[in-house]
Amino acid sequence: MKNYVKLNDGHKMPKIALGVWQSHEDTKQAVLDAIKAGYRHIDTAACYHNEEAVGEAIQESGIDRSELFITTKLWNSDIRAGKTREAFEESLKKLQLDYVDLYLIHWPVDGYVEAYKEMIELQKEGKIKSIGVSNFKIHHLQDLLSKVEIIPAVDQMEFNPQMQDEELLTFCKDNKIVMEAWSPLGSGKCLSTPAIQLIADKYHKSTAQVILRWLLQKDIVVLPKSVHKERIIQNYDIFDFELNDEDMCLMNQLNQNLRTGPDPDHFDF
Ligand SMILES: NC(=O)c1ccc[n+]([C@@H]2O[C@H](COP(=O)([O-])OP(=O)(O)OC[C@H]3O[C@@H](n4cnc5c(N)ncnc54)[C@H](OP(=O)(O)O)[C@@H]3O)[C@@H](O)[C@H]2O)c1
Repeated sequence: MKNYVKLNDGHKMPKIALGVWQSHEDTKQAVLDAIKAGYRHIDTAACYHNEEAVGEAIQESGIDRSELFITTKLWNSDIRAGKTREAFEESLKKLQLDYVDLYLIHWPVDGYVEAYKEMIELQKEGKIKSIGVSNFKIHHLQDLLSKVEIIPAVDQMEFNPQMQDEELLTFCKDNKIVMEAWSPLGSGKCLSTPAIQLIADKYHKSTAQVILRWLLQKDIVVLPKSVHKERIIQNYDIFDFELNDEDMCLMNQLNQNLRTGPDPDHFDF
């Protein structure tokens, strides 16, 4: 299996990113550990308040900028206020970068179409390589697709064993939109599922590794978060085994439509 996916705009995106939501003061070290372990994709957001730390780690890593894939996201208050460009420039400054690889609308709040159109302009200026969305259900995507000429490269959604939206995954695939799974481990809640432990024992892997591998085999990009070096290394070490069809089916059957985060149709922030 290749370790990157090709987006609908031609750019390559590494299939495993380090997520840094709630990484707090450990962010810089976690990013450095991740880069050392082979990660080339980091997923942050303006509202995580750690873009500076991510930027410092990128500088310190010594890795050529062209080898890294950096994602950040436009926060809801900036979308509502029509401040896409200002918010983007602020993120860029904090990250100490002159472009980001992927910029996402964080949540489908009022004003997302206008924000997305501004992102298209920033893309034309070379400041964003790929543009996408997050927390967009099918009806949000249908609305956006009817109003803009550039299809989002990515939809970043909660997707893990207990929260599987197959209909959205199919819609994304049909429209050449790559799905990224946020909270791929269910924020840790899926790690002690007995059925996953049985599969993990069989492959001599951890439950985290089985979940992440299952998602990759479903063509979903994963963003596991950890601030522990050994877990960061472990979460990347998933290219040397393959779940068979029977185990893929067993994982698919664990769905409970149970979210760990907010429903994109009902949130109050
Ligand atoms: N677009 C959005 O709206 C949105 C929303 C939520 C999240 N996200 C993105 O998705 C990323 C991941 O989501 P998440 O942070 O909610 O949850 P997650 O990656 O599903 O799970 C992270 C939790 O699992 C633990 N963990 C990680 N690897 C482990 C391993 N190998 N063994 C045991 N425990 C392990 C972590 O603990 P330690 O850190 O203590 O190791 C942490 O408590 C975020 O960081 C963010 O980038 C995006």
